[in-house]
Amino acid sequence: MTDPKRYLITSALPYANGPKHIGHLAGAYLPADTYVRYLRAQQKDVVYVCGSDEHGAAITIQAMKEKTTPREIVDKYHEMLKNNMADLGISFDIYHRTSAPIHHETAQEFFTVLNDKGDLQIKETEQYFDEEANTFLADRYIVGTCPVCANPNAYGDQCERCGTSLSPEQLINPHSTLSGKPPIKKSTTHWYLPLDKHEDFLRKWILEDHKADWKPNVLGQCKSWLDMGLQPRAVTRDLDWGIAVPVEGAEGKVLYVWFDAPIGYISATKQWALDNGKDWKSYWYDKNTKLVHFIGKDNIVFHSIIFPVMLKLHGNILPDNVPSNEFMNLEGDKMSTSRGWSIEMDDYINDFVKAENGGDQMVDALRYYLTAIAPETKDSEFTWKGFQEAVNGELVAVFGNFVNRAFVLMHKLCGGKVPPFHNDIVDEKDRQLLSDIGSAKENVQQLIESYKFRDALYEVIDLARKGNRYMQEKEPWIVAKRVDETGQPTAEAQQVIDNCLHICLQLTANLAIFINPFLPFAAKKMTYMMKVVDKMLDWENGGKTKLLSVGYSLRAPELLFRKIEDAEVLAQVEKLKIKSKKIKEMTTANEQPTSEPVKEVAIKEIIQFDDFAKVDLKVGTIVSAEKVEKADKLLKLEVDLGFETRTIVSGIALHFSPEAIVGKQVTVVTNLAPRKMRGIESNGMILMAEDADGKLQFVNPDVVVVNGSGVS
Ligand code: MF3
Ligand code: ZN
Repeated sequence: MTDPKRYLITSALPYANGPKHIGHLAGAYLPADTYVRYLRAQQKDVVYVCGSDEHGAAITIQAMKEKTTPREIVDKYHEMLKNNMADLGISFDIYHRTSAPIHHETAQEFFTVLNDKGDLQIKETEQYFDEEANTFLADRYIVGTCPVCANPNAYGDQCERCGTSLSPEQLINPHSTLSGKPPIKKSTTHWYLPLDKHEDFLRKWILEDHKADWKPNVLGQCKSWLDMGLQPRAVTRDLDWGIAVPVEGAEGKVLYVWFDAPIGYISATKQWALDNGKDWKSYWYDKNTKLVHFIGKDNIVFHSIIFPVMLKLHGNILPDNVPSNEFMNLEGDKMSTSRGWSIEMDDYINDFVKAENGGDQMVDALRYYLTAIAPETKDSEFTWKGFQEAVNGELVAVFGNFVNRAFVLMHKLCGGKVPPFHNDIVDEKDRQLLSDIGSAKENVQQLIESYKFRDALYEVIDLARKGNRYMQEKEPWIVAKRVDETGQPTAEAQQVIDNCLHICLQLTANLAIFINPFLPFAAKKMTYMMKVVDKMLDWENGGKTKLLSVGYSLRAPELLFRKIEDAEVLAQVEKLKIKSKKIKEMTTANEQPTSEPVKEVAIKEIIQFDDFAKVDLKVGTIVSAEKVEKADKLLKLEVDLGFETRTIVSGIALHFSPEAIVGKQVTVVTNLAPRKMRGIESNGMILMAEDADGKLQFVNPDVVVVNGSGVS
């Protein structure tokens, strides 16, 4: 959408069920904040909304774990998340919450409109029910064995090991987390959103209209969902925590959390408008509004398929884009709060920002590294060493160093004032740098507008690097040694010095403008040093080379960034190891850590020999393996079983590279019903063991046997 009248920017509402880690920050919050700050610097009409997602089983399960009420859980973590985001400079116009009455009303109204129009279907189905706890079981309350990767602790909605979205029906040996018993099926009535009826619209809207402007990872996921065929999706649940279904006779039923949460964007806008005397409707109904949802990759389907269908039916505008990042790993492993392998925002703030040698510059340091390694096109990896190298080698040594030198030399060689510019002695190097400022602006702008924050930030650092090189070549400190009889630089020498520092200071002003959306605290400090008002940071000033007036006296330089010491990095790596080890010990001791769901070690119910005999196990050899497009967990295997070669899709891609497993023998469940994954039919399952570190190991005979040998 070119030149919209207003912008409405959202970041996924985080569940208020525990602390969130810096992978979340890098995924859905930091890029959105950068984008919003850029738009604000352009004087655009922009509202940036977010809030806590306070419903659903994620909350009730955490309450159970902390032996308290859902209310206490959401109050506690809402407060934490709100403060964390503010501390990290995420500049929401409102950080709302879905437990607010205005949200309940908004979500109920939304449901009623759809229901009254006949856009929802009512169906009676059999759902899992825990007889002992006398309650229906939300998907998250059911665990069982994943049909894809055989993880014995997969949830009814998703296997966290291989990432596959599941329904409880697909779990092998399902059991309730409330009683530990296998659930029974009981009939219940629910409202469904018939997504299948909107397939044609979605296909055209996503795959044609947005073919060129949505990111490939988003388009890819959408395409595979559409290709698999959409199903009606229940939008209500039997649960006692959530928003009541506004229909008579629906007592005990609530709106599905994924139905109410995105409506949270609307209720947050309403609350913001109320607080600021604005009209919320134009943001949700006027086609000239550009709506952009920033999300992590596990939220793609909800924001590009389900919520748009809801919005369309309700008469609202649709998102213009849904920029989603991939995942950020940490020190060689998947980031996970439940396994303790994560850096919580709250911990970073305590260890660095609120520490003695911390402060806002450490917020910018984190923002810098997270943007520089943003998983924009593929998963990326945070390492503490990498953090140290990026901060010390780029922020301190390139950006900070340039600004500092410009200021120090200006004080030393130009009397603390912006020196005059002598047109008659301008040379090629001067001209080049001045024109580099202009092209940097164009590039940064174009990159931010296409959501390529990583490349945009690189442009800014690169411009500072050019500044350093220029200064190095011009050597004003050497030129200053050309003195006359009074010991002062000659008039000619002074002119050379003036021009160099004049350009360097104008460049500094531009760097402040360009870095502002990314590192707002550094930009602010720079305006202080330059004694200019915040207004100077307006984007339209970028590219101008007369921002600081000749003769204007500037302050002494301040250090923009500090170095990260080896000891700090080592301490963090150590802390990570200790934390994850402790959680592992607690888990095995069957104590519950106070964060995210923990997988319990469960021995399945006793089965009879006849049941076991139904399973056909054979040894085969993997003859080829390749990655499945757009599914980083899956490998497509061809397994030679002697009598035939089978295609098996297996969720082991995070553990093995395709090359490493070709030729390996494996045990295969050969009579498992075929299952389609990412459009590929999988005919069987290979057996894997999960070791104490969560790594997968092959379960195979210790000598090579003939393919097709039975296992029993
Ligand atoms: N709470 C969800 C999650 O953390 C995200 C909700 S986004 C919204 O995955 F659109 F529903 F708000
Ligand atoms: Zn799995």
